[in-house]
Amino acid sequence: MIVVPGPSSKELGTTVGQILRLKAVQLEFKHFPDDENYIRFTGEISGQDVTIIQSTGPPQDQNLIQLLIIASAAKDLGARSVIAVVPYLAYARQDKRFRPGEAISMMTVTRLLEASGIDRLITVNIHSQAVLRSLRIPGESLSAISLLAEHFRRLGLKKPLSIAPDKGASDIAIEADEILKGGHGWMSKERDRITGEVKMEERELNAKGRDVVIFDDMISTGGTMVAAAAMLTKHGARSVYAACVHPLLVGGAQEKILASGAREIVGTDCILSPVSKVSVAPIIAEALRRYM
Ligand code: R5P
Repeated sequence: MIVVPGPSSKELGTTVGQILRLKAVQLEFKHFPDDENYIRFTGEISGQDVTIIQSTGPPQDQNLIQLLIIASAAKDLGARSVIAVVPYLAYARQDKRFRPGEAISMMTVTRLLEASGIDRLITVNIHSQAVLRSLRIPGESLSAISLLAEHFRRLGLKKPLSIAPDKGASDIAIEADEILKGGHGWMSKERDRITGEVKMEERELNAKGRDVVIFDDMISTGGTMVAAAAMLTKHGARSVYAACVHPLLVGGAQEKILASGAREIVGTDCILSPVSKVSVAPIIAEALRRYM
């Protein structure tokens, strides 16, 4: 197996290659003056099992098209097989029609991934498992929650409470609690589908005097974490931390979350950001070992 670190995940791809002692083939990459992508493999691809590591965080469309070009070029150059490691899979939140007439964007993305010659997809904490079920190639979603929880264990917090900001993320809080062992719970979130505004309904959280870590799959605008951190502070939490796998952090999310009372925001390098303090390289390497 050889590893090809894509332009959006150069560091992560290189680290995974080093952990597995794989040969890395670098890409020559540039934008044409009109912003179209140019990609060229600088090493031999023919006959190889190729693993591409390319996340599709912002700018999503740019990173996605690069992934498609790299994968189809690898096949075109004679790769025996192509595994795409896409730590953050863009569009996974639009996996169904929430309002009449909406595009199911994820369906378009999955069809493009399949058509590009990718034989297997590996992603991390995909927003919806339904996406994997609709894929016509094998796909799996790894979990980075234990890596995030380990980070908080090392901080030395006193049996922190693991909280999910909505019921849908309660599995994440349960997973974190297996390491943090301070108990877990979930909040009741309502989002206005048109304005995007987030509201938290009152419910018993048993957070008084506790260190609390809010775990979510992603932070985008920060609306969810802001509302969750504010409510936990109101409930008397001693300290509040915000943790996510995918720190998209758009529109000043980081500043807003810190202003709402959270002490720290911790994310992974699924998407490189100022809060990417935890690397998912070990879990990706472990998953790839099965195919070497
Ligand atoms: C929603 O279901 C997700 O798990 C996240 O809670 C959400 O996408 C976060 O978005 P934002 O940061 O914009 O509230």
